[in-house]
Amino acid sequence: MSNVVVIGTQWGDEGKGKVVDLLTSSADLVVRFQGGNNAGHTLVVNGEQTICHLIPSGILHAEKKCLIGNGVVVDPQVLIEEIDGLREKGISVNHENLSLSEKAHLIMPYHRAIDDAREAAKGKDKIGTTGRGIGPCYEDKAGRSGIRAIDLLEPDTLEKKIRSNLEEKNFYLTRFFKADALEFQPIYDAYQSMAEILKPYLTDVSLEIDVAIDAGKQILFEGAQGTHLDIDHGTYPFVTSSNPIAGAACPGAGVGPDKLHHVVGIVKAYTTRVGAGPFTTELLDDTGDYIQKKGAEFGATTGRRRRCGWLDLFMVRDSIRFNGVTSLSITKLDVLTGLETLKICVGYDLDGKRLDSRPVSLKDLGRCVPLYEELPGWREDISTAKEIDQLPQETRNYLTRIEEITGVPLSIISVGPIRDQTIILQDPFTPSV
Ligand code: IMP
Repeated sequence: MSNVVVIGTQWGDEGKGKVVDLLTSSADLVVRFQGGNNAGHTLVVNGEQTICHLIPSGILHAEKKCLIGNGVVVDPQVLIEEIDGLREKGISVNHENLSLSEKAHLIMPYHRAIDDAREAAKGKDKIGTTGRGIGPCYEDKAGRSGIRAIDLLEPDTLEKKIRSNLEEKNFYLTRFFKADALEFQPIYDAYQSMAEILKPYLTDVSLEIDVAIDAGKQILFEGAQGTHLDIDHGTYPFVTSSNPIAGAACPGAGVGPDKLHHVVGIVKAYTTRVGAGPFTTELLDDTGDYIQKKGAEFGATTGRRRRCGWLDLFMVRDSIRFNGVTSLSITKLDVLTGLETLKICVGYDLDGKRLDSRPVSLKDLGRCVPLYEELPGWREDISTAKEIDQLPQETRNYLTRIEEITGVPLSIISVGPIRDQTIILQDPFTPSV
C-alpha cells in the first residue's frame, strides 16, 4: 500500500486536477491539506462543466472518500454551494463521501473585506490575490483569533469569537481603510444556519486517515496552488498564505512524514503565472499570446488572463528540492505543438555572472536574465498518442531534456485535457523496486 502527494512545481495552474482525477482511481481517500477556495479545478459532470474550489475532484468517483484537512481555510458558504451544485448535477455528496476537519479555520466576511480593502489600497503594488480572504484568514489562525469549524457546534463560542473579532476588524476596516463596518447579527445568523448544514461533515480527519491506512487503504494528498506561491519558499510577498509543498500534507492533514511515499511534481510544459511578481521567462510577445490562447490560460477562480512564458527548469529544480519530488508529470505538452523552436531555461545570469541558485531578493530576481537551451519543435498532432513511442522524435527530445536537467524520472505525460489523452510511464501508487 502506498500514499501519493500531488503538488504543483510552478506558480499553480499546472493541470494538477487532471492528474489527481487520474490517480484517484487507485486511491481510496483524497485529501486536501492547504489553501482554500483560491484554488479551482474544472470538473466535467455528464458533459457539463463545474468548477470546484474546495471539494476534491474525487467526489465524482463512487466509493471514494474526500477529506478537507485542517490546513485548508474553508469558506462555509462556498462549500455549501459546491455541495448543492454537485447534487443538482446528480452527484451524491454526504457525510459518507465528504469530511471536513473540525480543526479547519473558517473564512469570515471580514477576511474577504480586508483582502479587498488591502489590495485596493496597495494600488499598483498589489499582490493580485484572488480576493477570497485567504491571507487574512491564515493571519487570524497564526494570531490565534481564528474561528474553527468546531466552533460551529458551540453557539456561545461562535458568538464570543465573532464579536471580539469584529470589534478589531471593524476598527481596522473603518479607520485604516475608510471601508464600511460589518454588522454582527447577519454574520452570526448566517454562520449559525450554515452550521446546521455542515455539522454532519465535521470529523477528526487525521484519525479518519489513520484508520484508513491501518485498514490498508491508499491515500492521495492533493496540493493546491504551486511551489513558487509558497509562503516560505515562493517569490515572497507575491505568494499565497499557505505552504503548497508536499511536506505540508503532514501538518495540514495530521499525518506523519512516514505516511508519504511518492511525491508527484506537476510541471506544465511551459510556465504561467496569475497575479503580480517576477517571472523570469515571461514572454511578452506573439509566442506568449500563442501559448496563452492555445492553452486557454485563464484562471479557473478569477477568470484572469494568465501570464505565459518558457519552461523554467532552474525554478523547477528548486521545487524538486523543496518537495522531495519522486517523479514528474508533464502537462499540456500538446499546447507547444506548432512552435518552430522551443526554449528551456536552464540557469539565470545576473550582471554577467551565471548563478548557482535563484536569488531570494526580488530586486535581484527581477533583474535576472534567463539562460536558454533551444530545441526544435514539432508540428504533428500529439493529442492522440497513448505511448511514448507514438510521439515525434522532437517531442521525445524535449521530454528527455526535462528528465536529464532535473534528474527526476517522468511518470505521467498529458497530451490533452481528457483522461484518455495521457501517457503513463510509471504508476506512482506502485512503488518502483
Ligand atoms: P491569494 O491566495 O488569494 O491570497 O493570492 C495570492 C497569490 O496567489 C496571487 O498571485 C494569486 O493569483 C495566487 N494564487 C492563489 N491561488 C492560486 C491558484 O490556485 N492558482 C494560481 N495562482 C493562485
